[in-house]
Amino acid sequence: MTVPVATSLARLCVTSDLSLAEALQRLDETGGGPLLVLDHDGRLLRLVTDGDLRRMILAGSGNDAALSLLPPVTPVAARMDTSVAELEALFATHRITAIPRLDAEGRPRVLERREFSGPVLLSTPHLGELEQEFVQQAFDTNWIAPLGPQVEGFERELADYSNNAHVAALSSGTAALHLGLILLGVKDGDRVYCPSFTFAASANPIRYERAEPVFIDSETETWNMSPAALERALSRDAARGKLPSAVVIANLYGQSADMDPLLELCDSYGVPVLEDAAESLGATYKGRKSGSFGKLSAFSFNGNKIITTSGGGALCSDDEELIARARFLSTQAREPAAHYEHKHIGYNYRMSNILAGIGRGQLKVLDERVARRREIFELYRSVLAGIEGIEWMPEPEGYFSTRWLTTATFKREMGQNPVQLLEALKVVGIEVRPLWKPMHRQPVFAGCEYVSHGENHSVSDDLFDCGLCLPSGSNMSDETVIRIAEQLRYLLAG
Ligand SMILES: Cc1ncc(COP(=O)(O)O)c(C=O)c1O
Repeated sequence: MTVPVATSLARLCVTSDLSLAEALQRLDETGGGPLLVLDHDGRLLRLVTDGDLRRMILAGSGNDAALSLLPPVTPVAARMDTSVAELEALFATHRITAIPRLDAEGRPRVLERREFSGPVLLSTPHLGELEQEFVQQAFDTNWIAPLGPQVEGFERELADYSNNAHVAALSSGTAALHLGLILLGVKDGDRVYCPSFTFAASANPIRYERAEPVFIDSETETWNMSPAALERALSRDAARGKLPSAVVIANLYGQSADMDPLLELCDSYGVPVLEDAAESLGATYKGRKSGSFGKLSAFSFNGNKIITTSGGGALCSDDEELIARARFLSTQAREPAAHYEHKHIGYNYRMSNILAGIGRGQLKVLDERVARRREIFELYRSVLAGIEGIEWMPEPEGYFSTRWLTTATFKREMGQNPVQLLEALKVVGIEVRPLWKPMHRQPVFAGCEYVSHGENHSVSDDLFDCGLCLPSGSNMSDETVIRIAEQLRYLLAG
């Protein structure tokens, strides 16, 4: 009989008239099963494991005995869209080692327990030992408010760490970027350059000010803003009298952009830089801390970042006046008067004293977190060594990346494209993500200008089309990283 299933699974699918000897043989050939017993319409009747066959033998069945002798059981099965939590519950309640999952066409695919030991997320918070102490201080002193001693302490300590003279702790990295643009004087109708290859939060605040983003491509060496594209854009716009009022430079996945040529270009055209260091706290470029290069620089302490305050951000600069102004604008632009006097539109963007307490604890373990993320990257690289077609995000000489996320591109000619890899890993509870979708391809920014790296070469498009971010949380064990890497190796081997 022909069983209506995918060829790769055909050897696992049997009917109940199969003999014990044939079933043993089949298990041997297919690496241990389990076999899927289907009825004549291809519907799943039950699973048969080597344990079931052993029990048949112990009960005295001979080689010719048919599988139909096995006692009937209701098969435990799941749909392709069954959630990871539901799958975990199925494994636990039924104490089974494999679950067949049926796709939209009714074709089964077996999910084995050993492939699956709970969900692994891309990057989760990793708390140290001191956060609670700092938060407790806030409770003990009843500073459950925006501002307070923890905020002051956090600002001081972050300034020291990041090599900035002044820091304003804020409610998010996006808020920091928004205030940064305002402080650089960006206004209605202005043009602002921004990387195309980044998270939307680098670009959205440009729109908050009704300015026009112009997207600049990346380079292959760092994946960050391409000096060649920036140069073409600046010289073209200088010639047409349309220079931008600011350039946002982002440092992605834990690594700085090539700041020397980028800053030199911006300086030579007199355009200020807002550095988006949301993803690069802890990195260095030519020995200098990432997030200390812009006239203003922004950090994020969102839950997925290398350290977190659950949600938060900071705006940094060596310019005391700019940061004083950021503090003023972030607290509703309240004038120093006993009554509530306002001459400017303000924002509620300040960080709370509680969250700053978490941030102080997190800063103490930042260097450890960086070291662990780098170890995780090396572990992936070593398990996947020798597989042609994987290219890890480069770390050029003179750069020190935190490897906030382990990222790589997978050559198109490889057996599986990134979307297939992502789907296959999702089935076993592993969260991977594509690299950032370029802003010039986002519907919300349709019609915005885009300047590519080469006249006919768009690096950000290539990266998005073939790249993935792998789970990289500093709280992952070596075993988990190895399991993910081996799963990838298996998928790439086709
Ligand atoms: C490159 C980049 N810029 C800005 C942000 C915004 O930070 P937040 O989420 O704290 O607003 C993020 C992260 O979320 C980011 O990855």
